[in-house]
Amino acid sequence: MEERLREFDFSDEDFNSLRALVRKHTGISLSDAKRELVYGRLSRRLRALGLDAFRDYRSVLSADPEGQEMVEFCNAITTNLTSFFRESHHFDYLREQILVPLGSRPPGQRLRIWSAGCSTGEEPYSIAMTVRESLPDANRHDIRILATDLDSDVLARGRKGVYAEDRIKGMTPARLSTFFREQREGAMLRFTVTPHVQDLIIFNQLNLMHGLPMRGPIDAIFCRNVVIYFDKETQRGLFRRFACLQRPGDVLFLGHSESMFKVSDDYTLVGRTIYRRNES
Ligand SMILES: C[S@@+](CC[C@H](N)C(=O)[O-])C[C@H]1O[C@@H](n2cnc3c(N)ncnc32)[C@H](O)[C@@H]1O
Repeated sequence: MEERLREFDFSDEDFNSLRALVRKHTGISLSDAKRELVYGRLSRRLRALGLDAFRDYRSVLSADPEGQEMVEFCNAITTNLTSFFRESHHFDYLREQILVPLGSRPPGQRLRIWSAGCSTGEEPYSIAMTVRESLPDANRHDIRILATDLDSDVLARGRKGVYAEDRIKGMTPARLSTFFREQREGAMLRFTVTPHVQDLIIFNQLNLMHGLPMRGPIDAIFCRNVVIYFDKETQRGLFRRFACLQRPGDVLFLGHSESMFKVSDDYTLVGRTIYRRNES
């Protein structure tokens, strides 16, 4: 491997050992092509800790495998790209197939939706806005949206529900005025999600590689643009655990470049990266 002049020493051994650690803690598989990405993202951590070499950073991590630096390490490696109403056909499906039919049912119906890998909150807030739009009397039912992520930083931002102007680009004026409060902070505009939307969501930190502590059944799981970073074996195990939380007919949404083909027999494709749980 060609050695370039770098701020920090970064050997093959460093890369291989760190990517093994990433896989163990997050399920994320990093190919050789991700070497520069790992260097770039972790260099910030070395600077923050005043270290000169990745070898020393590895020592910090191995000295306290459950410590705060392991959290920072996982946070630095995860990719958190997201946006409101991303892959909008999924929200159309949610509205037409799940929420509108619920509107004509007797009060007190239980509905659970899980945003697994929710990043900074745009996905669970889009789900909650779809609920409010589709079911003006949603409060007569028992509806909860669970939003989880491994990354504690993005989760904290999601919980706050405050977004800069560039994050709400593309939002319709009707949604903007119904679901956000606008405030000026110096030269910046900030948009805060209204309590009416926030009330439907519970944010919790959860690593999808660990046990799934929630109580099923979960009517709809959004796990979009998360498993793309996992190898097939890790995906297989996760889909099996999702299947255990869902009843036949319950829905699972994946990201646009993700698929269950040759990975799981528990689900059937029913739309664009939309799956329904099979009979057991
Ligand atoms: C690219 S974002 C996708 C956000 C959103 N679902 C969407 O499609 O817009 C992927 C998210 O998955 C989270 N993630 C990655 N590995 C995870 C794991 N093992 N457990 C929980 N979350 C994980 C990352 O922290 C990140 O926020």
